[in-house]
Amino acid sequence: MNTRRLLADATARLELAGVASARADAEWLLAHVTGRTRTALMLLDEVEEPAAAAFDALLERRAGREPVQHLTGTAPFGDLELVVGTGVFVPRPETEQLAEWGVATVSRAALPAPVVVDLCTGSGAIAAWIAHQVPGARVHAVELDEGAYAYAERNLAAFDVDLRLGDAMHAFPELDASVDLVLANPPYIPLSAWEGVEQEVRDWDPALALWSGEDGLDTIRVVEQVARRLLKPGGAVGCEHADAQREAAPKVFAATGGWTDVRDHRDLADRPRFVAAVRRGA
Ligand SMILES: C[S@@+](CC[C@H](N)C(=O)[O-])C[C@H]1O[C@@H](n2cnc3c(N)ncnc32)[C@H](O)[C@@H]1O
Repeated sequence: MNTRRLLADATARLELAGVASARADAEWLLAHVTGRTRTALMLLDEVEEPAAAAFDALLERRAGREPVQHLTGTAPFGDLELVVGTGVFVPRPETEQLAEWGVATVSRAALPAPVVVDLCTGSGAIAAWIAHQVPGARVHAVELDEGAYAYAERNLAAFDVDLRLGDAMHAFPELDASVDLVLANPPYIPLSAWEGVEQEVRDWDPALALWSGEDGLDTIRVVEQVARRLLKPGGAVGCEHADAQREAAPKVFAATGGWTDVRDHRDLADRPRFVAAVRRGA
C-alpha cells in the first residue's frame, strides 16, 4: 500500500478515536512495524504485507487508547530508550527537566563520586539518566511495585545502579545523612481529579504511579521525610509535582524547618514542574 495514503488514513482513524497526537502516533507505529526511523518513512513509497497488517492491528489498539509506547514497547527519555509496557509508568518528557537539574546540581558541586538516590524509580528513568550522565556517581533507586521493579531491572542492567524493591519510606537506612542528591517523581494526582485525567493515563499507567491521597500530596510528604533523613547538610532534593501544586508542594518542604532555598521550578512550557530544596545544616 502507498505509504502516504496509509499514513493519512491512519491519522484520520486515530483522530476519530480522539487521539490528540494522531499523525505522530501513526508515524511512530508505522516506523515500528517497518523497522525504520520516523524520518526514514519519507523514503518508503510502499508498505508491504505483513507490515501493513501489523500496522492495522496496532492502530486498532491505539484507537482503543492504549498508549503508543506500550505498542512499541519503548519510551524515549533524553537519549535513552527505555523498555515499558503494562505495569509500569511511561516516563514523560517533562521529567527530563528534573533529571537534568539533578545532573547540573551534582556537576556544580564537582564531587568525584556524588551519592544520588532516586525514590519511586518506576522504569528506572531518572536513575538511568544520572548513571548515564554523571560518571562516578553512586546511584541508588527504590521502587515499591514488583511489576514496575521488573522493568527497572531491565532498564538499569547496563548501569551500575543499586536497585531495591520496597517502600521509599524505609529505604536505604545505611545511607542516612550521607546522600548528596535525592530525586523523585512520585505519584501526585489527587483522587478527586480522576474525572479530568486522560484515558491513556487512567486506564494504562499503574494506579500506584498516579494517585496519592485526597490532595495528591501523600507521597510528596514521604519524599520530604525520606530526603530529610538521607541528605547530608547542604545536599539537595528535587521532587516533581502537578501544576496545581506549585504552592502546596513547596509548602510541604517549607513547613518542616529542615530546608533552606525551597524553590519551585518551571518546565519549558512554563508550567510549575518540580520543587527543589537544600538540606539545612546541623
Ligand atoms: C509517577 S511514577 C514515576 C516513575 C519514574 N520515576 C518516572 O519518572 O518515570 C511513580 C512511581 O512510584 C512508585 N511508588 C509509589 N509509592 C511508592 C513508595 N512509597 N515507595 C517507592 N515507590 C513508590 C510507583 O509504583 C511508580 O512506579
